[in-house]
Amino acid sequence: MITMLGSQMLKSQFPILSRRVNDKPLIYLDNAATSQKPQEVIEAISNYYSQHNSNVHRGAHQLSDESTNIFEESRHTIAKFFVADPEELIIARNTTEAINGVAYGWADNHLKEGDVIVTSFMEHHANFVVWQEVAKRTGAKLEFIGVDEQGRLKLDELEDKLKNLPVRLVALVHVSNATGTVNPIKKISKLIASHQKETPIRFLLDGAQSAPHMKIDFHQLDVDFYAFSGHKMLAPMGVGGLLVKKELLESGEMRPWLFGGGMIFSVLPEETEFNPDLAERFIAGTPDVASVVGLAAACEYLRKLDMRKVEQHDRELVFYTLEKLTQIPEIKIIGPTKPKAGQLLDRLGSVAFLYQAVHAHDVSQILDSQGVAVRSGHHCTMPLHNYFGWPATTRASFSVYTSKSDIDALIKGLEKIKQVFKS
Ligand code: ALA
Repeated sequence: MITMLGSQMLKSQFPILSRRVNDKPLIYLDNAATSQKPQEVIEAISNYYSQHNSNVHRGAHQLSDESTNIFEESRHTIAKFFVADPEELIIARNTTEAINGVAYGWADNHLKEGDVIVTSFMEHHANFVVWQEVAKRTGAKLEFIGVDEQGRLKLDELEDKLKNLPVRLVALVHVSNATGTVNPIKKISKLIASHQKETPIRFLLDGAQSAPHMKIDFHQLDVDFYAFSGHKMLAPMGVGGLLVKKELLESGEMRPWLFGGGMIFSVLPEETEFNPDLAERFIAGTPDVASVVGLAAACEYLRKLDMRKVEQHDRELVFYTLEKLTQIPEIKIIGPTKPKAGQLLDRLGSVAFLYQAVHAHDVSQILDSQGVAVRSGHHCTMPLHNYFGWPATTRASFSVYTSKSDIDALIKGLEKIKQVFKS
């Protein structure tokens, strides 16, 4: 059913949103941490377990055939949602696992002492600590791009590194979970392409916060790896994926990093041959079929809403929140607030802020007492918080069911802070 984004009708499709918290209606603004799940997704999982549950090994018996078909169809639906080929989709538990997969399946096999990995101070720990560890294991050097006062990447620093250093991997976030910044990926891809040398530079994108908020076309993005989490885009926890350019899979440049189970073709004491089927080569052990089914149902749900409309809705919420928060003198917003000339504001998904002299944890506790759920802390971006000297920030983050009245409830909750800290 097509329903207006943010409407009461759409909210009613998410059972948890009718809960009360602290005796107040729940206003859920912690979607960057995890989104809520629509009834359609919950039912898809329940239906799989009550009607089709069996292991995925075709031909053994009826249920197993059904389960295999459902699993394969689900993989197709998910890949299609991202405009990728089904063979390019590796199911992982979440973005963190997907990025670790690139570290073990690609970086460990190709990087050596002297090579350079470039990441930035804007990254989630998952796209930062992983590369620190790879640098330790391989001897590669880790270089960082800075961030300007508006929360944008300093692309001149990236260009400088691409020009002067033997860069082998650029690993960046698409949409920041802390500042909401949308990084200009096409521009960065072009920059990387213009500095390609004999040994190619690979580009990894952390899509944890872009997949839920904008239309992703993996082929158009022109990145080598795109990692995402299902649970931030209406799907269950514990399932997400890594999209890998087909040529890296076909050439064997990207290797499996987990071994055993269905990814095997034949085993001899001396040698094991992996499954030639690209999609199966990365499935070691029994997959979490029900969660993959849930992720496919979430992709279908979002497809019906139309991701272009989802992005537009999100933009309106960001504008509305910025407009309201700038009227509170005690608040300093972090991240982009001013669009670049002739462009849309490069911000999606969330608005985080500092509240003068009140710790972010106190801010979120007072909001919680009003039924408003936000997140406070460093949001797994300690390097960014240290870079700017922010002790902790409070973040309101949005989803398809978020409405302007939810933002009004946030603003009303923030008024309470003034009262509490004045008395
Ligand atoms: N990294 C997730 C967040 O930003 C959990 O909240």
